[in-house]
Amino acid sequence: MKKNIALLPGDGIGPEITAQAVAVLKSVAEKYSHEFVFTEGIVGACAIDECGDPYPEQTHKLCMESDAVLFGAIGDPKYDNDPSAKVRPEQGLLKMRKSLGLFANLRPIEPFASLRESSPLKNERIEGVNLVIVRELTGGLYFGEPRGRDENGNRAFDTCLYSKEEIIRVARVAFELARGRKRHVTMVDKANVLETSRLWRETVKTLHDSEYADIALDFMFVDNAAMQLVTAPAFFDVLLTENLFGDILSDEASVITGSIGLLPSASTGAKVALYEPIHGSFPQAKGKNIANPIATILSAAMMIECSFGFAKEAAAIKSACKKAIEEGVVTPDLIAAAERAKGRKGYSTTEVGEYICKNI
Ligand code: IPM
Ligand code: MN
Repeated sequence: MKKNIALLPGDGIGPEITAQAVAVLKSVAEKYSHEFVFTEGIVGACAIDECGDPYPEQTHKLCMESDAVLFGAIGDPKYDNDPSAKVRPEQGLLKMRKSLGLFANLRPIEPFASLRESSPLKNERIEGVNLVIVRELTGGLYFGEPRGRDENGNRAFDTCLYSKEEIIRVARVAFELARGRKRHVTMVDKANVLETSRLWRETVKTLHDSEYADIALDFMFVDNAAMQLVTAPAFFDVLLTENLFGDILSDEASVITGSIGLLPSASTGAKVALYEPIHGSFPQAKGKNIANPIATILSAAMMIECSFGFAKEAAAIKSACKKAIEEGVVTPDLIAAAERAKGRKGYSTTEVGEYICKNI
């Protein structure tokens, strides 16, 4: 089958890791007789440098005309350390999410058995962990208006805003997902303090009782959830939450697997879905050929499974990644400290990518 993929490498290590995902997709195309057509677009700091807009119209058009979007990373230190910068690379990502209608962000956390030793958590805590964070992606504090400063600039404000419609559509994604899993949704909020959280609770409960009574639903305050994620992560199946809480909890949950360089994500909603690693642009590693390409390669697997329905092809990518990890063909982030002390350095980004391609 022929599929058009918009490729947005972005900033930092983005181009290096997406290049490996493209190589793996080409191996899949060859083995399973598909045709993937990649068209590159600019987003983030590189787009600001080129045309002053971190998500230019031509990139939006490219995404809209594609069957799916594969994205690398966004961000550059030259903007991080400049609070007065008028345009920031991150605005490109937010604009892209909003204009593509990507209201649901799925972040699966599934530790690899062979990497137990790389996790900072004790082995018995990781046992049986398999969870997905469903993060609302186009509302809340990230987008609420008004936002800004008062006249003299000494007071700043952001608005956390949610409507019932926004809550229902993402809650549906979580409940439907739970039906194919352990049928357990935990909704995470701060309903003891925030009015928006109380609306979330009330709306999710009503939707659950009328349409998803077959799913076990519980509620947890976000501070407690942050603690449970590292003390009893196996408790969770589907964790549903709003935008900012989901941002924070997904970084926290990523450490369970041993490296944030392993975790893929999908953002869905309207017509075209976007797939990206959950990590950032890792500018310190840019151009060094050391970044872990597996999160992006696994994002490509999610893309061909969820957007194109290629389940066996996705399984082939996942098992090739697993083999690379089991055989120790991994980048330096996955070499445990003890091994590093013995002088083991790990493999380069391209070597890991090539190994995975060879095993498709
Ligand atoms: C993420 C990132 C983004 C977010 C940043 C880069 C704007 O941290 O995708 O989790 O906060 O959503
Ligand atoms: Mn984040």
